[in-house]
Amino acid sequence: DSTLLWGGRFEGGMDELMVIFNESLPFDKVLYKADITGSLAYAKALQQKGLLNENELEQILFGLKEVLNEWETGKFVIKQAVDEDIHTANERRLCELIGAEIGGKLHTGRSRNEQIATDLRLWLRDQLKDVTKALEDALKVCAVKAKENIDHLMPGYTHLQRAQPLRFSHWLLAHATYLLHDLERLQELQHRVNSLTLGVGALAGNPFRLDREFLRKELEFETIYPNSVAAVADRDFVAETLQWASLTMIHLSRLAEDLIIYSSAEYGFVKLADAYSTGSSLMPQKKNPDSLELVRGKAGRVLGQMTGFLATLKSLPSAYNKDLQESVEPLLDSVKTVTHCIKISTGVIATLKIFPAKMRAALTVDMLATDVAEYLVKKGVPFRETHHIAGALVKLAEDKDTSIDKLSLEEMKKISPAFAEDITKVFDFEESVERRSSEGGTGRSSVERQLELLQQKLGNF
Ligand code: ARG
Repeated sequence: DSTLLWGGRFEGGMDELMVIFNESLPFDKVLYKADITGSLAYAKALQQKGLLNENELEQILFGLKEVLNEWETGKFVIKQAVDEDIHTANERRLCELIGAEIGGKLHTGRSRNEQIATDLRLWLRDQLKDVTKALEDALKVCAVKAKENIDHLMPGYTHLQRAQPLRFSHWLLAHATYLLHDLERLQELQHRVNSLTLGVGALAGNPFRLDREFLRKELEFETIYPNSVAAVADRDFVAETLQWASLTMIHLSRLAEDLIIYSSAEYGFVKLADAYSTGSSLMPQKKNPDSLELVRGKAGRVLGQMTGFLATLKSLPSAYNKDLQESVEPLLDSVKTVTHCIKISTGVIATLKIFPAKMRAALTVDMLATDVAEYLVKKGVPFRETHHIAGALVKLAEDKDTSIDKLSLEEMKKISPAFAEDITKVFDFEESVERRSSEGGTGRSSVERQLELLQQKLGNF
């Protein structure tokens, strides 16, 4: 079948379903620009080695730009059952536009195996710049929100049980810390994406000694991928991106979960803006945090794409195998999903309404039991003992249906003679928080230090 690029040795046609099963154009067409960018550079490299003359190069460059233009203006007409993937589609159209005599020279020494690897890297490199910007914006929004609300205290929870008082800012910056690490990981993995895999042939290398350093410069890659067999089958950059996306999604899902809980009436600490909420078709009073639920839910989707693709990659023999085509869809979808989720989460936080009085009202004096123990430590009682004494105080208050700050000094002294008048100073949430101002703690100066670190990393916000 001579209409197919690889049809030379074939007599019989393909099974109807096999045609659809095999074609990747429905999803890899988004790579049209990367594919043409690679071809423009490749044509120039061919001309350098005398494989195209000046006129042929000019025609090919002109034709490729025409094809690009058709994609960009929505005029590209896909030929069903012929355009198998983005590479064949672009080449077929190029040959129609400038004639197969010249157009047919573009693929000299080149394989689609190196093309898809190169296209994915070019495409992803651009996408990751957008993701980086989105993540930086998310961090800035967290920092601004934290700065504005540095005065407000809320209960900190472990096991979802009230634990110790925290600054709201400290809670928010906990999530920002995870996202900052995601940003760092993203910056690291981009170096491995940014490597030239063009000019390696199907698996054994380019037979015309094309200047790969020239290709690297043309396509602005950081490095030249050093092994042709590895180059055509390396989807580690896909795996790494999916792993990165999974972890980032997990972090966003944890932030989402906290906010979903905190926005329920039982807590009432925060309220989502209408822009990020939806209503119920049945219950008129409802305002649901669908934005955050979708973020939480989509974490499962990305995690699935990551594990699914790793399973595909596992045990593949060396060099190119068609299984590798299965890298494209999870990559495209995960990158889109994580980008949307970062942007949505950023919007939710930027527009989040905070209710400091509600947070404050949720603080209960028993959350200062640890502070009571620490008070006794300062009086010279060993910590193990103080923990017991403070526990006994909580128990007594519970039995008397009151709170620990309402017990009389006499009652306290019965439990431990170390209690003195100054115990009353312990029952103060602000003081409790401020005692924890060593680096990493919830005290104001520590929160300010965290904001400084973010500022160093992100610039002013
Ligand atoms: N469309 C393929 C992919 O996404 C690239 C084509 C290579 N195909 C081949 N039969 N060698 O991986």
